[in-house]
Amino acid sequence: MFFQIKSYLQFLWHSKNEHAVHSPFVFNFLTKCFYDKKSKPEYVILRAYRKSLLANKNTIEVADFGSGSKVFKSNIRVISKVANAAGISRKRAELLFRITNYFQPDCILEIGTSLGLATSALSLGNLKAKITTLEGCPNTMAIAKSQLQLFHLDNVNPVVTEFSSYLDDLRLSTFDFKLIYFDGNHSKKATLEYFDLLLPTITNETVWIFDDIHWSPDMKKAWEIIKNHPKITVSIDTFQWGLVFFRREQPKEHFVIRI
Ligand SMILES: C[S@@+](CC[C@H](N)C(=O)[O-])C[C@H]1O[C@@H](n2cnc3c(N)ncnc32)[C@H](O)[C@@H]1O
Repeated sequence: MFFQIKSYLQFLWHSKNEHAVHSPFVFNFLTKCFYDKKSKPEYVILRAYRKSLLANKNTIEVADFGSGSKVFKSNIRVISKVANAAGISRKRAELLFRITNYFQPDCILEIGTSLGLATSALSLGNLKAKITTLEGCPNTMAIAKSQLQLFHLDNVNPVVTEFSSYLDDLRLSTFDFKLIYFDGNHSKKATLEYFDLLLPTITNETVWIFDDIHWSPDMKKAWEIIKNHPKITVSIDTFQWGLVFFRREQPKEHFVIRI
């Protein structure tokens, strides 16, 4: 906790808004997408998806990956509580919707489905996109699947798998995921492993979003390594998320942006 507070104060000290940005690509992205305050019809669907999960007091047995949960003591969990603890926040889901809608990626990968709160934002952001979402816990994915069906979000391919084995097996170079949302195993080792496994899929238009980059000293180190990688030109640190771009025409530049 102390680490996160210190990190946040450092972030506030260094962060800027669009007025300090000279890159037209980043300026347009911030003004037309990040800071777009207008309400969207899709937000109503996002809210309904969340509301139905928060009203669900059934329990499921959850398979735990990695270091276990800081929030839950037992693996039998109430669905509404899983939605609250593991799911993306309302504001972030709206931002994820806008980012998807802004870039219109036709092929999307989500690493970490949980109950599909972020998946619904990716899906609505571009209904024509093909979205693959990965989740290791079959019971959690079963709820996500039925939610996605209930809301007619038919452009999603939910895959129950351990992340590394899926990414290892995939003939990655045949995929060109234009947007990847990394929201699964928040450890430095796993994040860098997925980063390396997915590098062969990048195109000039690719955008990758890493969740919780300031969650722990380890994740912060992973973020430093990622943003300094030679293939990455633009990186944007929003505290919760780190976004990276591979656009060859951009000079290498790192932005710390308040949203
Ligand atoms: C933070 S939650 C995802 C939240 C979701 N993206 C959202 O915003 O609604 C992370 C999910 O990743 C799954 N997970 C974590 N490590 C995994 C692994 N190594 N393989 C497969 N699934 C894993 C967990 O079961 C959990 O449901």
